[in-house]
Amino acid sequence: MKILALETSCDDTACAIVEDGRRVLANVMRSQVAVHTPFGGVLPEAAARRHLEVVNACVSEALRQAGELRLDDMDAFAATLGPGLIGSLLIGANVAKTLSLVADKPFRGVNHLFAHVASNYLESDLAPPFLCLLVSGGHTQLILVEGHDRMRIIGETLDDAVGEAYDKVARLLELPFPGGPHLDQLARTGNPKAFTLPFAVTENRFDFSFSGLKTATLRAFERAMVALDALPDTERADAVEVLRRDLAASFQRTVVETLFRRTLACAEAFEVRTITVAGGVSANSAIRERFLRLAEERPEFTVVIPKMAYCTDNAAMVAASAYFNPIAEDWRHDVFSRSAPDGHGILRRSQPTAS
Ligand code: KG4
Ligand code: ZN
Repeated sequence: MKILALETSCDDTACAIVEDGRRVLANVMRSQVAVHTPFGGVLPEAAARRHLEVVNACVSEALRQAGELRLDDMDAFAATLGPGLIGSLLIGANVAKTLSLVADKPFRGVNHLFAHVASNYLESDLAPPFLCLLVSGGHTQLILVEGHDRMRIIGETLDDAVGEAYDKVARLLELPFPGGPHLDQLARTGNPKAFTLPFAVTENRFDFSFSGLKTATLRAFERAMVALDALPDTERADAVEVLRRDLAASFQRTVVETLFRRTLACAEAFEVRTITVAGGVSANSAIRERFLRLAEERPEFTVVIPKMAYCTDNAAMVAASAYFNPIAEDWRHDVFSRSAPDGHGILRRSQPTAS
């Protein structure tokens, strides 16, 4: 079954064609970084307009990439319905609905978070049950995937999402938009033990909290900068550079250890032996290294992390989710932001049952 999917929930315009939820025939992504860089973040109105400008070209390119396929060769059309920016979602959803009408094939609506989970099925033979650490710009969740349509949130962030914390600390360190990948690069050049930053304690041991870490990083930076003021100008610039690198490395180490320890504890508590990581932040080099090392240290664990192109927002994962777990198969289904009504496939938090 071939599904052509669109993803326009935020600032990337993406179209992909995937066969049977796993085999990627085409994966096209047009980044909007250049559009939003002057604003230092995503400007929703500009994002929607840009989607409209490039979406048709993305569809044509995907058909070409898949070996000159035609709309008639598709078995269904899919799009992300939410959560996301409404103006942006509307473009992808309406284009996919129109294509399905033109080709007289079904439409399938997808939940963006389920799509990130489904990115793990691409080019792999992964099947439930598994534990998924979902880390993106808007979400940080530990999801127990018991079946394609049976997922439970076991833990989640009580405040900032990891990607959000990365982007805020990146701004503090004057890194360009989008901050996460730049901070990742900078962190690799510093000393991760230079600063001792706090590991948040939460009532539910599988929850996360990153706002305290973000504030502690900010305070450490301010304090160190005051100390550097006493240096002569010639030495100061170099010292500030060392400070930025060391703080980035220390922040990254604290985040990675927090994510890793809680995920492992959760897998042990729920007796799950397959751990996956998904979402934009799973492109982070230190997170990938730490989780992949687990499989070497403890061979009873299998670790699956999608390849980089499937970590940040992409349409291949939407096609996979449309195959395994669509949330809507009706044109009348509408787009939704973070607060969706019931029936849109929003995961509900479940009480942890493991000891
Ligand atoms: O999943 P995604 O593409 O969009 C959302 O659904 O939110 O995730 C975007 C987030 C941004 O916060 C971005 O800074 C972060 O993922 N990100 C990274 C890296 N690559 C992307 N964070 C840390 N290290 C990276 N290498
Ligand atoms: Zn995403």
